[in-house]
Amino acid sequence: MKKEALWVFVVVWGVACFCGSHGCQEQERVALLVLNTTLDLTYSEYTGGSYFNCCSWRYVECNPATGRVTKLMLSHLRYYRFGSKTWYLNASLLLPFEELKSLDLSSNSIGGWIAPKEPNLLSSKLSKLEVLDLSDNSLDNSILSVLSTIPSLRRLLLISNNLSGTLHLHGDFSNLKELDISYNAIDVAATAKGIKNLSHLENLHLDGVHLKHAGTVVRALGALSSLRILSLQSNTIEGSITTQVDHWLQQWLATNHK
Ligand SMILES: *[C@@H]1O[C@H](CO)[C@@H](O)[C@H](O)[C@H]1NC(C)=O
Ligand SMILES: *[C@@H]1O[C@H](CO)[C@@H](O)[C@H](O)[C@H]1NC(C)=O
Ligand SMILES: *[C@@H]1O[C@H](CO)[C@@H](O)[C@H](O)[C@H]1NC(C)=O
Ligand SMILES: *[C@@H]1O[C@H](CO)[C@@H](O)[C@H](O)[C@H]1NC(C)=O
Repeated sequence: MKKEALWVFVVVWGVACFCGSHGCQEQERVALLVLNTTLDLTYSEYTGGSYFNCCSWRYVECNPATGRVTKLMLSHLRYYRFGSKTWYLNASLLLPFEELKSLDLSSNSIGGWIAPKEPNLLSSKLSKLEVLDLSDNSLDNSILSVLSTIPSLRRLLLISNNLSGTLHLHGDFSNLKELDISYNAIDVAATAKGIKNLSHLENLHLDGVHLKHAGTVVRALGALSSLRILSLQSNTIEGSITTQVDHWLQQWLATNHK
């Protein structure tokens, strides 16, 4: 081997080793290890995983430049080790992930989040969090008051939970572009009246709900000026909807597609 080539090899190997042991922030690694006492996080040495580099773990994605965790895909990581008993997530465990953009905690039997005592911590530490999937858990309406303290959220999925009655979706949800609250026992008409303040909402999914007073719902949603996609699949509908939808579509087309 030529001398130069050997040097290149040594440098590349050195960089790889450095990244291998420091590829993830210690604070974030510790937080993930704590999460591993309630969710089943694994890594595989076969695929280059290392205990010391949490960026190499399955379900974890980091920004390669900063080594900070940007995405956690923690769906369905509970059942195998812990069964389907409802439990509560200590949201303080998420605070070290200051660069986190996307968090998937779906299908984990979560009953709620225990919010940190200090009120502004979630919004200040999770200020980059845009995508949150909490579908297929056992969350009740109290999750909304916790999530409303994270104004960076743009895409919120709460499909198939234990939400019920009227959802209060206003105030700090103002940046939401996509909301999916399908398959919950919610009062859509009452909820829709509050939804009209989500002025950036483009994509709303209300599948598998009972649509009472369909006309009221459609009228309320008609006030959402940014709405592009409204999904109403698998619903039972009470009240006449066709003329309302027709009227609403005409209005919407007139105001949005001049
Ligand atoms: C998480 O805990 C399980 C069970 O104790 C263990 O097998 C696994 O290696 C842990 N994951 C990490 C990333 O340390
Ligand atoms: C939640 O986690 C934080 C940080 O690890 C800890 O200080 C706090 O006591 C925990 N709260 C509960 C209710 O377990
Ligand atoms: C879901 O909500 C209903 C009533 O709102 C309650 O009776 C039931 O226990 C809840 N289920 C879970 C898993 O929290
Ligand atoms: C909705 O927005 C209007 C006008 O911006 C405001 O007066 C009202 O309080 C808001 N309603 C809720 C429920 O946030």
